[in-house]
Amino acid sequence: MIVERAPAKLNLALHVRGRRDDGYHELETLFAFVADGDVITLAPAARASFAVTGPFAGALGVVEDNLVTRAARLFAECVAPVGPLAITLDKHLPVASGIGGGSADAAATLRALARLSGVVTDDPRLFAAAERLGSDVPACLFGRTAIGWGRGERLQAVEGLTGTPVLLVNPLVAVATSAVFARWDGIDRGPLPSGDATTIARAGRNDLAIPAKLIEPVIGEVIDALDAVAGAQLVRMSGSGATCFALFDKVAACHAAAERVRLAYPGWWCLETALT
Ligand code: C5P
Repeated sequence: MIVERAPAKLNLALHVRGRRDDGYHELETLFAFVADGDVITLAPAARASFAVTGPFAGALGVVEDNLVTRAARLFAECVAPVGPLAITLDKHLPVASGIGGGSADAAATLRALARLSGVVTDDPRLFAAAERLGSDVPACLFGRTAIGWGRGERLQAVEGLTGTPVLLVNPLVAVATSAVFARWDGIDRGPLPSGDATTIARAGRNDLAIPAKLIEPVIGEVIDALDAVAGAQLVRMSGSGATCFALFDKVAACHAAAERVRLAYPGWWCLETALT
């Protein structure tokens, strides 16, 4: 049996530089990962099966065409044949929430299958499969703090921020990525700053925050709630939302902020974790 973690992804900065002819947008983004997320378990079995457990299992809806099963099919087609597998996805991350839950699950499935088949996890065929599964899947496969260009598939590791306490808050509204990109105003506000992860995160922006707030104004309330807590060093939305994050210097400050948000907004999802 193979157990593979699928950590949540954050976009510490996300600059949208232009619309492309293929319907995607040209990005410059700073990806980072946290210590918590979903978990994929797979084991050879007499018959193929796929089960979803965990607090967000119900939110996933139809599981036949899940990114996990698509990743497994693509691996078998493009990388190495695999026999029937019993796959379980333990779903802890809210769906359609800007922290790459589905992408992380797909990347973890590819990693687990690579381990099962004796394929090295930096095999270029895995990255090719990842790119076909979604824009954030290559970054999730890479799994390290990195700058992403293109759709986010051209990656370069960058140092900094490891261990930083972070609070993730989601108002539990699902936001469709394509809808947010479609509302982007087309204005190029400039490249990512250069430097280490701290410098880029501090001086960066999320250009999708404005269109996401137009679709779901509650995102503005999440940002305001995080801005109001003591000790937050950087507050921003991740990806196309609705999850927002706050970075802290100290675990105690992160914990106090989480307590405050939980008390004031009992319906929101809160995760105290750390950047890896
Ligand atoms: O690649 P992925 O399937 O995750 O993208 C979902 C949708 O988000 C795309 O269909 C597209 O509308 C939008 N998108 C985009 N530009 C990107 C990434 C995603 O327009 N760089």
